[in-house]
This record gives sequence, C-alpha cells and structure tokens, in this order.
Amino acid sequence: MPNLRKGRFRKTCRGMMRWTLAWALVLLFPLLASAQAPEMFNPASPDGSAIRDLFYLVMAISTVIFLLVIGALVYFVVRFRDPPGAPRDDTEPPQIYGSQPIEIAWTLAPTLIVLVLSLVVIRSVIAMRADPPTDESFRIRAVGHQWWWEFEYPEYGFTTANELVIPVSDEETAHEINLQLESADVIHSFWVPKLAGKTDLVPARTNRMRLQANEPGLYEGRCAEYCGTQHARMLIRVTAMPEADFEKWVENQKLPAVVDASVEAGRKIFMDQACANCHNIRGEPAHGKFGPDLTHLMSRDMIAAGVLENNRENLAAWLTDPDQVKPGSRMPNMRLSPTEVKQLVDYLMTLE
Ligand code: CUA
Repeated sequence: MPNLRKGRFRKTCRGMMRWTLAWALVLLFPLLASAQAPEMFNPASPDGSAIRDLFYLVMAISTVIFLLVIGALVYFVVRFRDPPGAPRDDTEPPQIYGSQPIEIAWTLAPTLIVLVLSLVVIRSVIAMRADPPTDESFRIRAVGHQWWWEFEYPEYGFTTANELVIPVSDEETAHEINLQLESADVIHSFWVPKLAGKTDLVPARTNRMRLQANEPGLYEGRCAEYCGTQHARMLIRVTAMPEADFEKWVENQKLPAVVDASVEAGRKIFMDQACANCHNIRGEPAHGKFGPDLTHLMSRDMIAAGVLENNRENLAAWLTDPDQVKPGSRMPNMRLSPTEVKQLVDYLMTLE
C-alpha cells in the first residue's frame, strides 16, 4: 500500500511540474516573441508605447497571481501529503465553511485588481481617442474596402490607396494624424502594430484613431478583422517622412494626372473600357469610386493592396488575370489582348 501511495504522489508531482512548465512557456512567450518580431513590443509612437506598458502591467499582475496560486498549491501538496509508511487514512478532513475574513478577502482582492486594470485601460483609451491638440495635426479619411484601403486627405484634396504617407514627429513638433475610419462594405480593422492599437471600420459609422510616428520609416500593418476571401491580402503601408519630404509628396499628389501623347492608345483603352467606371484619374474623364484612385499610381510601391511590387511585369500580370494574383478580387478580368495589356501598362506607368 505505501508503495502505491508513493507512486500516486510522484504522478501528481509530475503532472503539476508539466502544468507549471506549460504555464511558464505561455507567460514567457511574449518575451521570446519580442526577440524575433519586435513590432508591438518596440513601438514608435506614444500610443504604441502606452499599449505596450499596459500589456506589461497586466502581465506583471497576472504573473504575481500565478506565482501565488502555484506556490500555495505546491506548498499544500508537499506539506500535507501522507508521510511515507503511514497507514492509509480514508477519513475526510474537517470541513470548514464560511470564514468571513477569508470570504471578504477573496472577493475584495479580485474586485480591486479588475477595478485597477479597468481604470488604467479606460484612461489610456480616452487619451488615445482625444482630439489632437496641436496645430500640426490633420485629418485623413481611411475607408476599408474588400480588399484594399482608400486614404483621402481632405485638407489637401486628393485620395490615394493602400499606402499612407505622414510627416514624422520630432521633439519640437508632434504631427498627430486624426484618422477617420469608415467602411464601404463589411467590418475591417486598421492595425499598424508599431504605431497604434486596432480600431474597427464599421459600415455606416465613423470611428477615429490617432496616428503618430516618432521615427521616419516604413510601418507595415494589416486588416485585423476577417472580412472575406482576401482579408489576409489587405495590407497597409505607412511611410513616415520628414516634413519637407512630406510637403513635396503632397505637392505631387495634388497635381492632376500627367497626359502623355505617346501613350494615347493605352489611355483610350482605359477610358473606353470599364476601367474608368471603377477608378478615378483626376483631370481625366475617369471618375470611378469603386476601385483605388490611380492618379499617381506610380508613386506607390505596391499594387493589389501590398500583394505585388508595382512594376511593369506585375501590372501586366494583374491586368491579364487579376484572379491569378488575388483570387476573388473585385477587379474583373477584362479579357484584354497582350497588345492591349502592354498599351494599358504603358499608360499606367506614366501616372507618377
Ligand atoms: Cu479587411 Cu480583413
């Protein structure tokens, strides 16, 4: 009999060790992950830092609770086990109910913890939703489509797609973008981990978030709410550049599209085919709103919402058979001949 009990005790211990190890891995995972994918653990904006600090706070509190519970469990299992060789005792230990101090303690402690966590989270959310306080801020309207992003700069009077360009903030000037989030179809979610948290884009309402980058560079993001077949290929690229470069970029975006007589054949195909019904090209008889604005298509690095690099070969592949590149995409196959595709690409390549 004693041997059987010893075996059972060892089994219990082994089980607990495994359990503890699994939890330790779960708790360590964010740290391990941060070594490889620093994204949200290495933020480049005040809001990103606030979110990271909140995460650490929640993890710290959870870790303390975890250690207390596991510590108590291990202590009781070891301390109150049957001593080796003791006769088996099947009598129930004394049952104690309703210790008032204990009941109060374990009701109060979790309530306080939840209260503290709620307060810090609410404080951060209110701060992030607040209006940008500086004169250097401006508005950008972001509209989620299946499966691409429309970015309108109402103050400057132009619209672009998938690639957001913003001025970088420094110690003297904080450029806070007041991002207005809307959806043209289903619910999407705007998420650039290094710059801010996620905010949903909900049809028939306008959500807001603040965007600020403290270091120049490219910040990648994605749609974070399943929105259909190509949800995973609805990428966001935010480029933060010094103010002078940003002004230059804005000046170019404000211009109407280039008209180049040498690519008239391609331009004619664009205007005569259905292209012009879905895409807008400012200054031209193409006023479609269903697809991305192409006025300055070649100022963008990627096409099809971050799927392909924006170059001659990829544009041709995209025009020839959009479904091959992005199955289920709303861009129709226009059944163009190779010559037409080439002429069309020649035309698009001039839209700088
Ligand atoms: Cu848009 Cu997922």
